[in-house]
Amino acid sequence: MKAQNQEQNPYICEPMRIIRRHPLNDDVHFFQVRAVDMDKALELDYLPGQFMIVSIPGVGEAPFSISSSPSRPGLLEFGIRKVGNVTNRIFTLKENEIIGVRGPYGNGFPVQKMEGHDLIFIMGGLGAVPLRSLVLYSLDNRDRFGHISLMSGARSPEEMLFKRDLFNFMDREDIDCYLTVDQDDTGEWQYDTGLITRLIPRLENANPDNTYVVICGPPVMYKFVVAELLKLNIPKHQILMTLERRMKCGIGKCGHCIIGGYIYTCLEGPVFTYWDVIHMRGLI
Ligand SMILES: Cc1cc2nc3c(=O)[nH]c(=O)nc-3n(C[C@H](O)[C@H](O)[C@H](O)COP(=O)(O)OP(=O)(O)OC[C@H]3O[C@@H](n4cnc5c(N)ncnc54)[C@H](O)[C@@H]3O)c2cc1C
Ligand code: FES
Repeated sequence: MKAQNQEQNPYICEPMRIIRRHPLNDDVHFFQVRAVDMDKALELDYLPGQFMIVSIPGVGEAPFSISSSPSRPGLLEFGIRKVGNVTNRIFTLKENEIIGVRGPYGNGFPVQKMEGHDLIFIMGGLGAVPLRSLVLYSLDNRDRFGHISLMSGARSPEEMLFKRDLFNFMDREDIDCYLTVDQDDTGEWQYDTGLITRLIPRLENANPDNTYVVICGPPVMYKFVVAELLKLNIPKHQILMTLERRMKCGIGKCGHCIIGGYIYTCLEGPVFTYWDVIHMRGLI
């Protein structure tokens, strides 16, 4: 549910306090925030895969995927990479400082449709941020889903995001978790090395008709991962992916995110199926 003041003016932000902040790797930091107004904090509802817009007065606004799960109400979590004006300013903020946040926006993952199915999560780089929300959601509602597998890839062990969560998943019996890095210079990495596509044949026993696969990662990853999934006969409409486009308003007003002349990715995305991708020109 959106805050009441957002229903009057959709650009008004909710003041939120930074509760926790720590590095996930050299250039991506974790931010946990909570609405200053406790009632609004508890009212905020969203779907895994949706995003919020963070506003820094005098600097600007930027969209960020929600990384926390709606099954853990009250707090919002983000993984933010420092790349420019807004993110540089966000990186100067400390715990207890206040930021403006509006949303949630976007379609999110179709969690109700996914219930009763097996799930395969494939994440790389910053794609771990939105996918973490869905992973936590499915584990918090474990009885609603079938078999769950997760594959996470990064360039190096230092760059892999949310390692603490992933190591916890490795210890659980209700999720199969596979980790790989392109290269390990530490000599301490105990898991796979090589591209994430090399792990996919391990899913050969997946039941294609009853499986949803969710891919979040850098654009270059999609083509090769999808090719492997098609070999396993996963139906195209059961392969889900998040696609980022330049966004400004997040609410279908500015036109910055339009592709193919008519698709507003802030409203109809950022989650699309592979079937959408091959039928809508310009999606990737
Ligand atoms: C739906 C959605 C979800 C997102 N989720 C996350 C997230 O979870 N974590 C995260 O760190 N970032 C995320 N982003 C990207 C984030 O919004 C941009 O990095 C941010 O807007 C950059 O703002 P800035 O003012 O710091 O950079 P700017 O000063 O605007 O730009 C700095 C540099 O970054 C490039 N850049 C700016 N915006 C984007 C973009 N959207 N994609 C690629 N390059 C860009 C510019 O070309 C420029 O080179 C998301 C974007 C979208 C649309
Ligand atoms: S971001 Fe403004 S219309 Fe989509």
